[in-house]
Amino acid sequence: MTHILSAVAWPYANGPRHIGHVAGFGVPSDVFSRYMRMAGHDVLMVSGTDEHGTPILVAADEEGLSARELADRNNRLIVEDLVALGLSYDLFTRTTAGNHYHVVQDMFTTVRDNGYMVQQVTRSAISPSTGRTLPDRYIEGTCPICGAEGARGDQCDTCGNQLDPTDLISPRSRINGETPEFVETTHWFLDLPALAQALGAWLDEREASGTWRPNVIKFSQNLLGDIRPRAMTRDIDWGIPVPGWEDQPTKRLYVWFDAVIGYLSASVEWARRSGDPEAWRVWWNDPQALSYYFMGKDNIVFHSQIWPAELLGYNGQGSRAGLPGVGPGELGVLDLPTEVVSSEFLTMEGKKFSSSHGIVIYVRDFLQRYQADALRYFICAAGPETADADFTWAEFVRRTNGELVAGWGNLVNRTASMIHKRFGQIPEPAELEDIDRALLDAIEAGFTSVGDLIAQHRQKAALGEAMRLVGEANKYVADTQPFKLKGEDPATQARLATVLHTLAQAVTDLNLMLSPFLPHAANDVDRVLGGSGRIAPMPRIEEVDELDPDHLPEAFDGRTGYPIITGDYQDAPTWGRHPVTVGTPVAKPAPVFTKLDESIVEAELARYAGSVPDDVTGS
Ligand code: MF3
Ligand code: ZN
Repeated sequence: MTHILSAVAWPYANGPRHIGHVAGFGVPSDVFSRYMRMAGHDVLMVSGTDEHGTPILVAADEEGLSARELADRNNRLIVEDLVALGLSYDLFTRTTAGNHYHVVQDMFTTVRDNGYMVQQVTRSAISPSTGRTLPDRYIEGTCPICGAEGARGDQCDTCGNQLDPTDLISPRSRINGETPEFVETTHWFLDLPALAQALGAWLDEREASGTWRPNVIKFSQNLLGDIRPRAMTRDIDWGIPVPGWEDQPTKRLYVWFDAVIGYLSASVEWARRSGDPEAWRVWWNDPQALSYYFMGKDNIVFHSQIWPAELLGYNGQGSRAGLPGVGPGELGVLDLPTEVVSSEFLTMEGKKFSSSHGIVIYVRDFLQRYQADALRYFICAAGPETADADFTWAEFVRRTNGELVAGWGNLVNRTASMIHKRFGQIPEPAELEDIDRALLDAIEAGFTSVGDLIAQHRQKAALGEAMRLVGEANKYVADTQPFKLKGEDPATQARLATVLHTLAQAVTDLNLMLSPFLPHAANDVDRVLGGSGRIAPMPRIEEVDELDPDHLPEAFDGRTGYPIITGDYQDAPTWGRHPVTVGTPVAKPAPVFTKLDESIVEAELARYAGSVPDDVTGS
């Protein structure tokens, strides 16, 4: 039994999330966590909404809401959507929680006092009308290198060069078109060069473990080549106050400084809510504990450089060590990530998702018309695991009808129908023949092969292997032809009982094996075979009290609580064969998966047409 932290990227609360988001961080982390719990490990799966930063302010301004109102609304929408998908968080919280503010401020103070935060004067762009900082990517202008229009302050997409906003010719704000003003400002910078050696050593050790995806480790190591201090504060009035700068309310901690700390603060919050406030430590202070971070590829730098640098600085493990008497902060020496599990991007009908261009399928919208497990299946079978992947409605229909309905759903349905019709309960088998044993052995071996693949984050291959075994079971039906075993003579009856018992066991095993991918269906299938329908534990929403109102600034006055996602997942069955019980009643089954009409392809394409210009490439 190992303590496993499943650290899931925190979705921005600037809007509802689309299926590309949950393909990147949501479903893969849930599959992994569900499997690891069944394999006997003690999993803590945490996340929350990421509610600070400019994008929240921009969205709030557009809608005429305060940042807090916008964040409150989207936090709740996102919580509901993630629960509808069946994502089994132990705690899904938010970055505007008093506990988070407190942990973040402790992290900042300790890293600073350990000598890894340095003050520097820099030039930053502000919007003259609002006085707010304009982040690099919110400034656009003409590229000084290739002359292309529409280059952004961080890079030019036409020639691919990295830029500084001050390089742009005729810079303007992408928010309101005005010309930014460049002003001198002082900020705290994380002294990454002083942590570079320690970061390099950690990455080398991680590389030697051989488990990271090669492109992720390479990318992370390359980042060390050009490492510079990075500003961890911003000129903005929405964010966590900077300890020591309380008299400067227009300076706040950088959203990425605080967001990554969420993994830690959420673990602490979970422990406090569980009744044992120290319970989080086994996932963070024990070097034997493992931690897996799930995200899309645009997040890699923050998880393989900024976050481990914050942890090293907190621990006092960089080239300046820790100041005497400071050392690690109140949370002790913290573990660095075991693995950064990054996926690639999902596109839709060949185009980048773009909320502003209407190229988007919101999770909520999708789940109103289709089953959650049909989406989970598509993401696991055809998602962006190690290469960009495209969602098309035609492929969604093909996968759902061809694989879920005709493959797995059909096996379940035939098995239950025949058992119901011929025996009304799971029959007692006579002696097994070779063909029966061969199927059962192949499927039992699947627990090892499918499990190992999930543990290695090869979920596509894992699901492919489980579905191959579904194919074997369907072939077994074709070979043994139980529907033709009709006579009332004892030999025929005994053979029929044996075949149907074998199938009941096969379906039960496959259902368990598929349950990390298809948890809703797993409960339905379990019920079809006479079970309680609770083999895949489901998350729930709870309204909880704010634990530390005193740690929140004035902007939150009056907030007393918020919704969280949590659940009781320890009752999940163990990974492996659980023999079926002879005599379990089996009723006439209803289909578990809904077959889709081909016409939905046209209908869905038409729904989005018109709002989708052909040439859009933006995000
Ligand atoms: N909000 C970020 C995004 O959606 C992800 C933050 S992950 C975190 O890209 F851990 F840093 F919060
Ligand atoms: Zn250019």
